[in-house]
Amino acid sequence: MNIIVINSSPHKNGTSVLLTEKFIEGAEEAGHNVYRFDVAFEDVGPCEGCDYCISNGKCVKRDSMDKLNPHLLDADLIVFVTPLYYFGVDAQLKLVIDRFYANNYRIMNNKNKSILMATSADANDWTMTALEAYYDTLVKYLGFEDVGRILATGCYVRRDIENSDYPRQAYLLGKSL
Ligand SMILES: Cc1cc2nc3c(=O)[nH]c(=O)nc-3n(C[C@H](O)[C@H](O)[C@H](O)COP(=O)(O)O)c2cc1C
Repeated sequence: MNIIVINSSPHKNGTSVLLTEKFIEGAEEAGHNVYRFDVAFEDVGPCEGCDYCISNGKCVKRDSMDKLNPHLLDADLIVFVTPLYYFGVDAQLKLVIDRFYANNYRIMNNKNKSILMATSADANDWTMTALEAYYDTLVKYLGFEDVGRILATGCYVRRDIENSDYPRQAYLLGKSL
């Protein structure tokens, strides 16, 4: 499978990146082709809603989405990795998702699989509720098949997640594909 992993955390050694690395380790061991895109270290601007793409079939902007798009359109599985920011995806990931607009129907027609991996400081039973509702709605709209999620609650900083079972779960999820 062609897998793209979109990691949005701005922390180079944070919690999300550990899930990213472990997932990729497992997926590559299982023989999959993985493309990793670290949004926070790329140049991705917001969708301006100009609708240039509606009449021209591509986005008016030239930035790192030009790098991601060929992989996006060729993917069998898209993995979204985000720290929880105010109960949703962080702004970096939302930038990328909004820019799907320029390829909306191509992405829909691809019948991708998808995975959500998220980290958060809190560990209430409602901590991830809004994020999951957003993700479930997104995959329903785009026609993706959700094939797994890891919701690493109670992971404020790196040592919290290192002392948890979540990295192993991410590895096993990648390996199981
Ligand atoms: C702007 C901001 C908003 C956050 N919002 C939440 C939140 O709503 N709920 C929560 O439990 N943790 C929240 N956190 C904590 C992060 O989700 C948590 O520290 C996470 O592990 C950071 O991941 P990273 O190291 O991969 O960037 C927030 C952190 C920041 C910087």
